Amino acid sequence: MTAELDHRSVERRSVRARASGKVNLQLSVGPRSEDGYHPLATVFQAVSLYETVTAEVRDDELITLSMSAGPGLPGDLDGVPLDSTNLAWRAAEAVRQEFGVTDGVDLSIVKGVPVAGGMAGGSADAAAALVACAEAWHCGATREDLHRLAATLGADVPFALMGHTAVGLGRGDQLSPAMTRGEFHWVFAMQHEGLSTPAVFAEFDDQVARGERTAVTPRVDAEVMAALMAGDGALLGKALSNDLQDAALSCAPRLRDVMETMRDGGAVGVVVSGSGPTVAALATSAHHATSIAAYVRAAGAADVVMTASGPATGTVILEG
Ligand code: C5P
Repeated sequence: MTAELDHRSVERRSVRARASGKVNLQLSVGPRSEDGYHPLATVFQAVSLYETVTAEVRDDELITLSMSAGPGLPGDLDGVPLDSTNLAWRAAEAVRQEFGVTDGVDLSIVKGVPVAGGMAGGSADAAAALVACAEAWHCGATREDLHRLAATLGADVPFALMGHTAVGLGRGDQLSPAMTRGEFHWVFAMQHEGLSTPAVFAEFDDQVARGERTAVTPRVDAEVMAALMAGDGALLGKALSNDLQDAALSCAPRLRDVMETMRDGGAVGVVVSGSGPTVAALATSAHHATSIAAYVRAAGAADVVMTASGPATGTVILEG
């Protein structure tokens, strides 16, 4: 064995990256396009609930994936695939193809964002896997390379790379940073049972077909942008909106009670996060968020209640 190979097998390169979950402050949805997707105008905010992905280079060409739940995460991980259909696995494969890498990788994920919760935990896994693999394999990938690969993996993956607060157009993947001031304080009411994003979009289509709602050209709400610029949580609370909310409530009617309880608990704004079932409530301070969370917990309105703040960072390398 050569000295070089010896060195490789002793020092396996390992990189750990972290990406945040998100909440949509506004989600404006247009009519379904021919490609099956809906044109969106959305304002994303990354929040301090994190997915951590470690990529350890293998000497052979295999990809493996393991996953564990971080402390307090609702739901079990049984339904999450650990094979080539997992978004993090697909991210590793995309990097390998793009840069002609022949090595394999062991991916291990620690989840801090609820599964199928409407907070883009799977997209955060993909973003963190892209960054960790590109770094571990020394691909020399640019931010642009990673963004392009991210957009092929899913509509929310580019934002998971970018983080902070951003306007998303197109499928949600055409991003521009939003001006914000200060910090916003959130309470998230989570459910053990997830909701499927395609099912919620399909219910949205049915509501449009039944004439219960209209799907107009999506637009960014000026009030949301003004509240962000002012750093005014109470103003932002009033401006929160989500065109998928009625569809999510129709798929999971119990969420109405969750929303009501969060309002009773003193939230300045309550909205279903993305395609649900997580319900997001805005508070005016960290202390206020803690008190709303205590109220919602005591009422038994949700399976798990967590507090977080935003904007949080995009994907960052923690180690390696
Ligand atoms: O892009 P991603 O795989 O995350 O999207 C999951 C599903 O959500 C899509 O298959 C589609 O049914 C729906 N979707 C949509 N319009 C968007 C984003 C997602 O209809 N802009």
